[in-house]
Amino acid sequence: MKKYWWQDAIIYQIYLRSFKDSNGDGIGDIPGVIEKLDYLKRLSVNTLWISPHYDSPMDDNGYDIRDFFKVAEDYGTMEDFKRLIEVAHANDMKIVTDLVLNHTSDEHPWFQAAKDPSHPDHARYHDYYIWHPGHVQEDGSKKRPTRWISWFGGSVWDYNEATEEYYLHIFSKKMPDLNWRNDAMRNELKAMIQWWIDLGIDGFRIDASNHLEKNWDFPDDEPGYQHFSSLPKHHDYLQELADELFMPNNLLILGEAGGASKEEALQYAGFDSNEFNMLIHFGHVWVDIDDSNTLTPGKWAKGTVKLSKIKEALSHWIDVFHEKGWNTLYWHNHDHPRVVSHYGNDDPLYHERSAKMLAALLYLLPGTPIVYQGEEIGMTNVDYQSLHDFKDVEVFTEYENFMRHGASHEIAMQALRDRARDNARAPMQWSSSDGAGFTAGTPWMPVVKNHTRINVAAQEKDPNSILAWYRMLLALRKEDAIAYSYPTFYHLDKDDRFAYAFSASHHDYYVVGNFTQEPLEFIPDVSLEAMDLWAANTDVSPGELGPYETRIYRTKK
Ligand code: GLC
Ligand code: CA
Repeated sequence: MKKYWWQDAIIYQIYLRSFKDSNGDGIGDIPGVIEKLDYLKRLSVNTLWISPHYDSPMDDNGYDIRDFFKVAEDYGTMEDFKRLIEVAHANDMKIVTDLVLNHTSDEHPWFQAAKDPSHPDHARYHDYYIWHPGHVQEDGSKKRPTRWISWFGGSVWDYNEATEEYYLHIFSKKMPDLNWRNDAMRNELKAMIQWWIDLGIDGFRIDASNHLEKNWDFPDDEPGYQHFSSLPKHHDYLQELADELFMPNNLLILGEAGGASKEEALQYAGFDSNEFNMLIHFGHVWVDIDDSNTLTPGKWAKGTVKLSKIKEALSHWIDVFHEKGWNTLYWHNHDHPRVVSHYGNDDPLYHERSAKMLAALLYLLPGTPIVYQGEEIGMTNVDYQSLHDFKDVEVFTEYENFMRHGASHEIAMQALRDRARDNARAPMQWSSSDGAGFTAGTPWMPVVKNHTRINVAAQEKDPNSILAWYRMLLALRKEDAIAYSYPTFYHLDKDDRFAYAFSASHHDYYVVGNFTQEPLEFIPDVSLEAMDLWAANTDVSPGELGPYETRIYRTKK
């Protein structure tokens, strides 16, 4: 059954800036990660995915890379990074880093030369990026090449006076897109990747991987996403990286590609394909979008959560990859709201129970889990009252959009508190102290006030904590080879409950839970005669599932 090391991986995603500050400057750093490796080991984690650690002006917290070969000063030094790899490896842990290949920072030397005709290397680097002269109008003024909208809101085009051209950026204007049709550019990126492999990296998470190719006819559509997303040729680029770099080095490749069809998913991550090994697909991440909301549209429009849609996505991906590839299990990453606030209930009355319910719904399924930092203690969305507590570049363009659409400040702020990426990026809550045990100084973004109640130190002491529950479930995955199971789902169409059963190497299991605040009638879907109640998130009474109640049964044997 097992073919690759990463099938037994338990991955933990670290958002470096917010994980642990070791020197009191308020910013998480690499020595902070090293400090916490023991904590992660106790969670059964054996693989870390670390958000970009490269030198960057931090317009998008490091996804805007200025120097691929340097560690950001905020995060430490190359020596620190080498030590992280060394200590992790000594503890049988693997290190996966983010690989941002779609764009660089506008402060990257390539772009500096590309945009400046008087630069000695201008001719060499100009075509590393994507330029367009725009359209000259009757009055002589220039118009943007297309109406395409960037992922952060606003046009994808910005004007560069010096060359009298527009450059393309599908994220912020400080993140110009690279031209993947340029062989020299691709070769430089490949050499860079090889350099990190030689340093000992065990894998990469490929950022924005389905955007590498663009439609160079530049049709004038709005928003035009189809012209810079999932175009067939991006597979050629990924295949080239896989053949030359990823496969020969036995790396784990996590690929980010939203909206992939079944066929495309297998093209990325099927066992016989190998562009990636695992796909980050987002199928279950935004199941509650209210299309009628015109004030804060798109992902910002919070609607009713439909559990049936979540289950549909989870079972869909399990089936797509069954025997043909490998599944990924995760609630969310650094780009989404906190799952306990989004899909659970962060009211103190139900916080612990619903967080445990969500963990049981996901983490006994087949595939490789990716736990996002703080999820294991049930960290919630932010409680920010001022726009300036938010730090994400996306927040500010989108806030202006909301105002243009006629939203009030209050409505806009609520949309941000519900949906902004910053919800997942507030500092990790290690303790109840002022800086939440994240920093001895002033944190780079405010800590959430509930850190006095929700924190690692408190949960370490409590055998019934969310942390204890995560430890138990993740340890079980290892003991009983749950990664290789194949579940039967019950009640897929119901929005109030979930249930699934499967056989692992030692036991058969039945997992059942109430997704709502209302009690439900409980009639088991399988015979419980040969089973024991192995775990539950509350006291159980026969015949009824209380609010958010979840039970895990397994055969005695
Ligand atoms: C990916 C990252 C996101 C980043 C974007 C641009 O979607 O997850 O955080 O802003 O790519 O690099
Ligand atoms: Ca620091």
